Amino acid sequence: METTNEPRTQTMPRIGEKAPAFKAVTTQGDIVFPDQYAGSWVILFSHPADFTPVCTSEFMTFASLESRFAELDCKLVGLSVDGLYSHIAWLRTIKDKIQYRGMKDVEVTFPLIEDITMEVAKKYGMIQPGESSTKAVRAVFVIDPKGMIRTIIYYPLSLGRNFDELIRVVQALKTADAFSVATPADWRPGDDVIVPTAGSCGVAKDRMEGHEAGVTCHDWFFCTKKLDKTAVLGAIVKTPG
Ligand code: BEZ
Repeated sequence: METTNEPRTQTMPRIGEKAPAFKAVTTQGDIVFPDQYAGSWVILFSHPADFTPVCTSEFMTFASLESRFAELDCKLVGLSVDGLYSHIAWLRTIKDKIQYRGMKDVEVTFPLIEDITMEVAKKYGMIQPGESSTKAVRAVFVIDPKGMIRTIIYYPLSLGRNFDELIRVVQALKTADAFSVATPADWRPGDDVIVPTAGSCGVAKDRMEGHEAGVTCHDWFFCTKKLDKTAVLGAIVKTPG
């Protein structure tokens, strides 16, 4: 970890804001972000450096799970402050040489942004000088079909991401949107969800007394209900075609 007294001049995008726009060169050609992803969910994530071990384990995992994200209509876009030729050489090495935890011949087909100038990394608050002023931290931005930032997670350089959690985040956000509910701690599809707090005393009383079908109240401010798992999966899984 680096110590720094640098003034804080970087922007830090926030949840509920429009994802900052940029154009970039990637391993899959040029992209215009987030406009090109309008209508889909997208995870924009950064990694510190090509040809490093934690990043390699993460890229192999992202690539292996790409179809699970695609099922959720969620695309992946990676970024580091390395150049395009470094990205290409690293991804080729991963495919040709690396076997790790049952993964091999792993081809990364989602775009990996080159950001030598750090323009995008700085826009997204991915350069955190206390951790490193020359590398991006492991940032994750979950962006919805309208281009709004819905979740941000930052990890330090030494800590590989938890991919079950990244999938769970997309599932939970889509469920919250589709059913106008919230999701409790450790929620997974099939678990009970939280219903919004009742707007009037009458509704709250009915709920507390067990008169609202399917709703269980633990107190006036904390009521849950079951959602049919098939209906949840129907709402969050993209139909093929
Ligand atoms: C890694 O991916 O292994 C890594 C990258 C930068 C700093 C530390 C670890």
